[in-house]
Amino acid sequence: MPRVNELWHRLPESPTRALDRLLEALGRRDIVNLAAGRPGLRPPDWVLEWLADRLASGGLEPFGYTPSGGLMEAREAVAEDIWETGGPRVSWEEVILTAGGQSSVAAALHALGRAGGRVLLVEPTWFSYEPLIRSAGMEPVFVTAEPPDYRLPEEAVKEAVESGVSMILLADPDNPTGRLLTEGEARLLAELAVDHDIWLIVDEPYRTLVYEGSKVYPARYAPDHVVGVGAFSKDPGIPGWRLGYAYGPPEAIKAMERFVEYTVYCPPRPAQELVAMYLRDPRKREFRRMFQLEYRKRRDTLLKALAELAPEAGYSKPPAGMFVYADVSRYTGRGRGVTVRFAEHALRSAGVAVIPGEFFGPRQAGRLRLTFTYEPGERLVEGVRRLATALNSFKI
Ligand SMILES: Cc1ncc(COP(=O)(O)O)c(C=O)c1O
Repeated sequence: MPRVNELWHRLPESPTRALDRLLEALGRRDIVNLAAGRPGLRPPDWVLEWLADRLASGGLEPFGYTPSGGLMEAREAVAEDIWETGGPRVSWEEVILTAGGQSSVAAALHALGRAGGRVLLVEPTWFSYEPLIRSAGMEPVFVTAEPPDYRLPEEAVKEAVESGVSMILLADPDNPTGRLLTEGEARLLAELAVDHDIWLIVDEPYRTLVYEGSKVYPARYAPDHVVGVGAFSKDPGIPGWRLGYAYGPPEAIKAMERFVEYTVYCPPRPAQELVAMYLRDPRKREFRRMFQLEYRKRRDTLLKALAELAPEAGYSKPPAGMFVYADVSRYTGRGRGVTVRFAEHALRSAGVAVIPGEFFGPRQAGRLRLTFTYEPGERLVEGVRRLATALNSFKI
């Protein structure tokens, strides 16, 4: 057999895929899923009915290719939605659609990065960033945010930028911590990008999943240095339909469009049509209010159950996103790999799936990411009950 590309060969499997394999091996067992970063609600019926009709009566058109960067109507709808939710005013040409949020991050890293460049990540951070950075021929540099609320470590960020990085990449709202950047933090990041003439990539797939406070868009403060990326996987909830987006200065967007063109040619058309219709319909606001209320209720249910059933766990209330990031080190310790072992123990012995902290950065042993959006309320309580059983029976 000829040799395979070492870089790709060595990239680790993502924890969510590893978990899928484990779940498959466990067969039909009843598992409470606190691991998946998935929505627990379907997109609204009115948009699904519209799309069904469109597919049935639209002739060949809805099955065809679209321009590489997506349909103009869909790009316009995204631009309007970003403006309407407090973001910068961008034109449709400053927006592209991609085949999923992960693909938007990949497009930004490949089209805007330079081989050998260093990319600043704020740990804990989403587990796909490091493999995506490495696959684009760059290196991650970590600074650490501290519990309980994981505020941006401003001094460490400044020092790292001054020591020479070519990009800053972070999620806002954050995965796994649910942190929402304050206006001061967003301004600081934007200023650093301008002062050092580097890219700030802000990953915003959770931008409408906000329960307290509000999302601040750093692109408003540095439109020539910030690229926003995101996805429709969480709102309106079509993760398997693969649709993401990016907005930013036209030259950056043009280069990213080329990446889309030569990797997937164009993003999936039915998803683009659905999103264009969803974003322009005023009923979108009511749907968003509904899921925000429901997810906030689920978050509070999970937190209450944690307080009662796992009182030694540490966490803060996430104002946004899909996750509670809990410190369980009083039960597990913080030894290397300990929460990876714990997650497997919890799955096999108690039937609850969680993501171990080790996947979110080099200093994250002893922590767990718990999803509150996917399972309904009573299953969340059952999940925490199982988690507590596993914590109390875990041998370090
Ligand atoms: C921070 C972050 N960025 C990007 C994505 C990717 O979204 P998608 O599923 O559309 O690829 C996710 C999904 O979990 C995420 O948490």
